[in-house]
Amino acid sequence: MTISTHIAGYGAYLPSKILTNRDLESIIDTSDAWIQSRTGIKQRHIAADTEATSDLATAAAHKALERAEWQPQDVDMIIVATTTPDYTFPATATRVQDKLKAGSAIAFDVQAVCAGFVHALAVCSSMMKDGMAEKALVIGAETFSRILDWSDRSTCVLFGDGAGALALQAKQNNPEGAGIIKTLLRAQGTDFRSLYVDGGASTNGKIGHLRMDGKDVFKKAVTRLADISQELLDQQGLDAQDIDWFIPHQANQRIVDALGRKLRIPAAKIATTIASHANTSAASIPLVIDSYGQQGHLKPGQLLLMQALGGGISWGACLVRY
Ligand code: UT7
Repeated sequence: MTISTHIAGYGAYLPSKILTNRDLESIIDTSDAWIQSRTGIKQRHIAADTEATSDLATAAAHKALERAEWQPQDVDMIIVATTTPDYTFPATATRVQDKLKAGSAIAFDVQAVCAGFVHALAVCSSMMKDGMAEKALVIGAETFSRILDWSDRSTCVLFGDGAGALALQAKQNNPEGAGIIKTLLRAQGTDFRSLYVDGGASTNGKIGHLRMDGKDVFKKAVTRLADISQELLDQQGLDAQDIDWFIPHQANQRIVDALGRKLRIPAAKIATTIASHANTSAASIPLVIDSYGQQGHLKPGQLLLMQALGGGISWGACLVRY
């Protein structure tokens, strides 16, 4: 008996407050022209003071449950990929379980920063293969606005807040071959100073701010994500032409374009939301799935290639038959 993990529903939540590039011009020394030409970003959503990461995650989860036609109590596992948790502990997923009233579903967080969602998909798929869960919510949710240094123009213009959720169902002996096919994950801890937050419970006891060597991360994102994606395709005996939708982490349009060129994936098959969402870290991939799903672009049987790289440095790629 083989068990596969299927997408049964998707959902998203974006805070109502929008911060445009023009708004940023009045806060720091930047310009709409610089941000758009260097990143492709036009605006980002910012959580209200009263909204915690679990609120964003819960709102996205409700949408995914609705689309899957599940009740909260049907869910037996909730995984939240986040690096901006509500509290140092407990896991934000336990707050989501409580807010959803999802019984005693397994609930824990995965912390792999921008690569968190692909890590969470891998964990969910493995646990479903082990028979530990049948109906899961895998959520990417972030409030990066809380860890940005709003005086550092090289980082604060790049990120936004939001959440995306997938309802994932374990199916046995699935004849259509749909579901998560394979995920590859990597980390290189020696690179940690390239992208990190200068705070933490066991270092200085502060929440800290995001620090990044943007050029270094840019180069590593292009080479490592191209390599891992090619390795994944080769392992599965697939070619870039077999991909229906390339769903990359939304960090920078120039990174996405470079990856498309390296992997020979045409622009028409590359899904992007970076202009309106900016970089939402672990939430970016499920936010793209929700946006493209709602527009009717995602069809059963299509092959999706997701990939992401972030702090750690951690990265990964995941192939899914929709
Ligand atoms: O989610 C995963 C993690 N993040 C990423 O993947 C991001 C990877 N990196 C990047 O996306 C890009 O490196 C950035 C968008 C961060 C920066 O783009 P860049 O083309 O590498 O610019 P740069 O850092 O080389 O800066 C070029 C110039 C500098 O001025 P000088 O030294 O040439 O006079 C910066 O001071 O642009 C200046 N600059 C800005 N100017 C206006 C930097 N930030 C800004 C800004 N507005 N916001």
